[in-house]
Amino acid sequence: MDGEAERPIAERYDAIFLDLDGTVYRGDRAVAGAAGALTEIRRRGLRRLFMTNNSSRTPDEVAGHLSQLGIEAEPGEVLTSALATASFLGREGRSGSTAFVIGERGIRDALGSAGVQIVDGEPETADLVVVGLDRFVDYGKLRRASLLVERGARLVATNDDGSYPAADGLWPGAGALLAAVTTTTGATPSVVGKPARPMFEAAAEWTGATRPLVVGDRLDTDIRGAGAMDWDSLLVLTGAAGPRDLLAADDLPTYVGSDLSAMLAMTPPARFRPARPSDVTAVRHLLTSAGLSADGVEERIEDTIVSMADEEAGLDGAACLEPARRGRRVDAILRSVAVRSEVRGKGLGILAVASAVRMARWHRASTVSLFTTSAAPFFERLGFRPVDRRELPASVRESRHAAEECAESATPMLLRLGHGPDQM
Ligand SMILES: CC(C)(COP(=O)(O)OP(=O)(O)OC[C@H]1O[C@@H](n2cnc3c(N)ncnc32)[C@H](O)[C@@H]1OP(=O)(O)O)[C@@H](O)C(=O)NCCC(=O)NCCS
Ligand SMILES: [Mg+2]
Repeated sequence: MDGEAERPIAERYDAIFLDLDGTVYRGDRAVAGAAGALTEIRRRGLRRLFMTNNSSRTPDEVAGHLSQLGIEAEPGEVLTSALATASFLGREGRSGSTAFVIGERGIRDALGSAGVQIVDGEPETADLVVVGLDRFVDYGKLRRASLLVERGARLVATNDDGSYPAADGLWPGAGALLAAVTTTTGATPSVVGKPARPMFEAAAEWTGATRPLVVGDRLDTDIRGAGAMDWDSLLVLTGAAGPRDLLAADDLPTYVGSDLSAMLAMTPPARFRPARPSDVTAVRHLLTSAGLSADGVEERIEDTIVSMADEEAGLDGAACLEPARRGRRVDAILRSVAVRSEVRGKGLGILAVASAVRMARWHRASTVSLFTTSAAPFFERLGFRPVDRRELPASVRESRHAAEECAESATPMLLRLGHGPDQM
């Protein structure tokens, strides 16, 4: 989008879809930075939608909980997987159907308002079996749900999170209850909650947004789901995922921030793509400005990735990943990691490394090695370990990069990826 880097992240989108647990609050405490950032988003008139896979609570209850934490929110700003399930069934023309429900008030209310008729007790048949989080479920209900599915009821789940994070640890989540029914019947459920599409489709339908930003703390739900919709996303490091998890992820966010205040920063989007021969001059410029060698950039351009939001400002970041082969074994060398000085400290470096390490996995590399003189703490935070040169894979030790180009004083660092044979 034109000039997107000239505005704060939140202002580049027509709605912000926010995860709750681990992003806005953890149990009964607000996450640091959340209240201030969310109030500011509201003050600027930006559309917010809080999205939660938890189907047990109603939007009024969720909004009430947010208000108690100092975050003003309207029930209309809350989309639970229960509401998304009702909206999904509406889209599929299922209003008027009968449903046997495993779930609490949130899902029962939502289905009722959508014209689905809830059948309780021991019904002989039902059109649907809907499963959500139910802290009062018993064997009789699981048995009835299974029997109805065996008799042809369609199985729908609000979400399939295996666990539910509670104050004293993990409790069985909707996915664990669902597993009782799928294990019994072999049925394949339609799942609504993140990372599945129906939840995001309901969010788009509700807000009318066509270009939303998804914000969350989990790579496997928030970020993966956003990617499947082709939407941009911001990963906040206040919950489930840490910087190291990014190096194991195939679905990467557009931004990474320490908390929700990142939504108000002017960070350029990280859209790393393979470099082209026409990028050589820009890559050279970035590397020399960052104090790195630009020797041989043109020979490595095919192994280089770059990101640029604004032609005039030039490249925001670059990295190079060279496979080093020996027999059937592949190892990788990460080099030329650089971020334009004006946009450092905003997570672009982490995303450059994560994109490069993802390429290493595509090459089925066993390890990623690098040499650095000043950025060892940065790479250590991402899971690289300083090693003795003798611990590097032979193909890396013998590479031109190690043998000729690297200063004796540079620290060799290694990340194991777990592919291929152990023997180096
Ligand atoms: C190293 C470099 C790529 C990091 O990029 P960046 O976009 O600033 O990094 P991020 O914002 O993703 O950094 C994540 C964290 O690492 C920290 N960090 C960045 N550079 C660091 C360094 N050289 N040493 C220690 N920590 C560093 C950041 O402060 C940030 O920490 P925080 O989240 O706790 O505030 C960038 O500083 C750079 O281009 N340096 C010059 C070239 C270089 O040394 N490259 C590496 C050798 S190949
Ligand atoms: Mg979360």
